[in-house]
Amino acid sequence: MANPEIGNSIPTSINGSKFKEDEGKENYSLQIFQSTLNLLAHILIGIVVGICMLFGFRYGVPLRMTNLHIVLCVIGYQLMMAEGILALCPYNSWTAGLKLADKKRTHTILQIMGSVLAIAGSILKSLDKTTNFNTLHGQYALVAMVFTIVSLVNGVTSLYAYELRKYIPGNFSKIPHSIFGVVAFVTSLVSLCYGFNYSFFKTWTGVERSSGDNQHHGFAYAMMAMSAAFTFIIIVNPMVTAFNKTVRVKK
Ligand code: HEM
Repeated sequence: MANPEIGNSIPTSINGSKFKEDEGKENYSLQIFQSTLNLLAHILIGIVVGICMLFGFRYGVPLRMTNLHIVLCVIGYQLMMAEGILALCPYNSWTAGLKLADKKRTHTILQIMGSVLAIAGSILKSLDKTTNFNTLHGQYALVAMVFTIVSLVNGVTSLYAYELRKYIPGNFSKIPHSIFGVVAFVTSLVSLCYGFNYSFFKTWTGVERSSGDNQHHGFAYAMMAMSAAFTFIIIVNPMVTAFNKTVRVKK
């Protein structure tokens, strides 16, 4: 006897291999490609954040100010913000099964927590210095901080875009929110890379094989490359979304 519960998944065609559950999977190869990139991004986030934590906690607790700022900034930007942006991607592994409303909630919570940690880490290190923003590392971090704050404010108006539609057209909040968020995330990457370029980090990563001036800094450069790779993968979706929304507004 036919099971009424599986009635809907009965094959409609066998020869043409067109099954009901396969409907809407025309871009199957593209979906596999996107899922693979998503997996790669998670692996790279894990490696980069994990190694930064090992570096930050290398002298144990209590943390010195520089180490505390590394831990806070990297968890804020490269872990929470990264996952917060990914949470909205349709093919993101751990949020794919969530309803859109819950994806937005997840995104909001991660972005608020990530921004607070990253801004706290940046301000604490700035207070620890006598002259501020005199290095490229610090200057890019400042740009990241400013865009993070703007994107946060903009995020609130995007979240309540429907309620505020009389005063601000939805896309006027949402498109800049994606762009400011991407700028904040990319400038935090540049700042991070300048951080990896400090000799005390390069020495730590290459310490076993270093000999005099001839140090092996390949690992620090690999950290930059891995950070750049996951940042690029992550910003593709918000850029495409912002582009599509802009095209729709123009039409
Ligand atoms: C996304 C990650 C990071 C952010 C947002 C960030 C942010 C900042 C900020 C805002 C300052 C103070 C700048 C100033 O007031 O002049 C600073 C200083 C500093 N950071 Fe970072 N940082 C990050 C990661 C790192 C990493 C990974 C390292 C080292 C491995 C590092 C090492 C330093 C050092 C040595 C200073 C003091 C010298 C300077 O100002 O350039 N930072 N950082």
